[in-house]
Amino acid sequence: MRAGFYCKKWITSLVIALAMAVAPATVARAQTNSHQPWMNKSLSAGRRANLLIRAMSLNDKVALVHGVSRKEHPFKGYVGYVPANPRLHIPALKLADGRAGVGNGAKGVTLLPAPIAAASSWDPSLLNEFGRVLGKEQWGKGTNVELGPTIDVVRVPEWGRTFETYGEDPYLNGRMAAAEIKGIQSQGPIANANMYLTMQQETDRFKIDSVVDERTLQEIYLPPFGSAVSSGVGSVMCAYIKTNGVYSCENPHLLDGLLKTQLGFGGWVMSDWGGTHSTVASARAGLDQEMPDSRYYGQALKSAVENGKVSMATLDGHVRRILVTMFKHGLFDKPQPGNWDSYVRTPEYAAFSRKVAEQGTVLLKNEGHILPLSGVSSIAVIGMDGGAKPEVEGGGSSHVVAPYVISPLEGIRKRAGAAINVTYSDGSDLAGAAGVAKAASVAIVFASTVEGEGHDRPNLELPGNQDELIKAVAAANPKTIVVLNTGGPVLMPWVKQVRGVMEAWYPGQEDGSAIAAILFGDVNPAGKLPLTFPLTADKIPTSTRQQWPGLNGKSIYSEKLDVGYRWYEATGNRPLFPFGYGLSYTTFRLGHLAITPTRIGREPGFIHGTVEVTNTGSRAGAEVVEAYVRQPPANGEPPRQLCAFGKVFLKPGETRQVHLTINPRSLSFYDVSAHRWKLAAGTYRILVGTSSGSLPLHRDIIIKDVSN
Ligand code: BGC
Repeated sequence: MRAGFYCKKWITSLVIALAMAVAPATVARAQTNSHQPWMNKSLSAGRRANLLIRAMSLNDKVALVHGVSRKEHPFKGYVGYVPANPRLHIPALKLADGRAGVGNGAKGVTLLPAPIAAASSWDPSLLNEFGRVLGKEQWGKGTNVELGPTIDVVRVPEWGRTFETYGEDPYLNGRMAAAEIKGIQSQGPIANANMYLTMQQETDRFKIDSVVDERTLQEIYLPPFGSAVSSGVGSVMCAYIKTNGVYSCENPHLLDGLLKTQLGFGGWVMSDWGGTHSTVASARAGLDQEMPDSRYYGQALKSAVENGKVSMATLDGHVRRILVTMFKHGLFDKPQPGNWDSYVRTPEYAAFSRKVAEQGTVLLKNEGHILPLSGVSSIAVIGMDGGAKPEVEGGGSSHVVAPYVISPLEGIRKRAGAAINVTYSDGSDLAGAAGVAKAASVAIVFASTVEGEGHDRPNLELPGNQDELIKAVAAANPKTIVVLNTGGPVLMPWVKQVRGVMEAWYPGQEDGSAIAAILFGDVNPAGKLPLTFPLTADKIPTSTRQQWPGLNGKSIYSEKLDVGYRWYEATGNRPLFPFGYGLSYTTFRLGHLAITPTRIGREPGFIHGTVEVTNTGSRAGAEVVEAYVRQPPANGEPPRQLCAFGKVFLKPGETRQVHLTINPRSLSFYDVSAHRWKLAAGTYRILVGTSSGSLPLHRDIIIKDVSN
């Protein structure tokens, strides 16, 4: 015994001596670990959080569940900040906005196209790369919580933050959200899914009440957040708005109920900036952290815990969610050398920004193959957006300080070379612009809307004299093309008078290079609309004042499930351009749709489909195959809903198979009385094509003997 004891002691001393000789830092860390066992990386995130919580005082805990204002703690850049706790080794949380690049006035960063442009690629791998670039730049800036992406479903086409989103379909939004979130988080920062929930307008955004039924919540507005949770998103931002009378950030049904219990979200919920309205109600409902300051979650929360209005267990629950996420994402363990002054942009990211702009541009009209340009000797570039200051991004917290912007005029001049004469008119004088247009072989009018957080667009028209400008130019030159820089849909009263229309969204810093590449055919457009473009202002799903912007403080979601293209299908109203629509410079043929299995019994797994796509034209190009499901009428679902898609790149004459994977959830509906999703027996039609308005192929799936 004794000999063994001495022997063990001797060996221990030898090990310590050796360790000190070779790696003093390791020993210091080992000692830290024994005092601060949560620093032991080999333990699980949950275990580490529990150990740390045991060592925390009430003050330590309260300090973690709110931000500090700039006055209290001068820091640079970050829009949200939770100071480090050096005694406990808790790193600071540094939050920065980022929808199309690092926001909050950061310099030395890349301005990417708006997320709506990225979503128009219908390419989750592009969104994943988008997230990687954004995450990498944020991490390089010292940011460890990236405020984005914005994953809400667009309900109101005038919504001022449409450009920040992926559009009007829950399935598309969910796929894009998952891809971007994984990309962001692979580079270090914790992503933050915005804005939970029913945030579909800017008008009265601090107080409007979204009145929405449970089935619609579950089927339309919740699913993108479900995808975000499945993809491992670390944090969620609750919205300013109220849902059914209760502010999002103190809404127990939304927070503890749907998000944390039903979806199983394990990260933390922070309030939007100033979106916290109470201490006790919020703490009990599931709000984990107040941003940006401590109005309700500082001294007030401490007192509420001391006087028993909020239990210590509740506070610990909030603290634990923050800590577990920080541990999971390595915030306690990974060095993060960069700071707000770091220069993070690279030529590679600039090239990526251009790639997104190219992939996200949607060709809407191309009469008589006016595009790509060929055999032109002169081009008239017209409109403010063609010149030095194009609208390349949306405003508000999304704003990014662009390092440069390549204007369309610059991009076109460069690509056109000396042989083509490129002229310009800013369009402020209609007659002058018409004159410039008339003198050229082709006229390209650039038009835009200004969109941003805090205000909705008053209507769907192009503002100012832009409609008149387009008409005047089209009258002067029969070869007129319109390029739009908008964050959402606009009406096109001139559409029949022009030969070509392209939706370039807010294309970021590489605007002109991307647009020139498409105009000249160096890049074959392949973008598809992620939202419907209506024909007229009164024929939209939310055309009444009760729906938008709301009456008496309430905006009524009376269109229910008929959001976006669902409404057009259900009511038989024809849109100008349907959801999922977009042209190419080549042509494609679809055939041989196969679906397996076509008869489904109990507990169905994923359903698989294949379809053959052939490039029947003479240029290489990409096509997106879209699959929609039509449920049996008894289920009370909209006529068709997107359930799968796949994108394929084909050389001329080439044929490839596109695989479609359909989750049985897409064949289900939410049964409100049973409080769960239900799969009903019946015949389900899978419609396949290249836009919601063109679905030539179909196969039926019979569901029988379902176990509900
Ligand atoms: C926006 C959020 C943003 C926050 C911080 C709020 O006004 O709604 O999306 O992250 O400001 O800038």
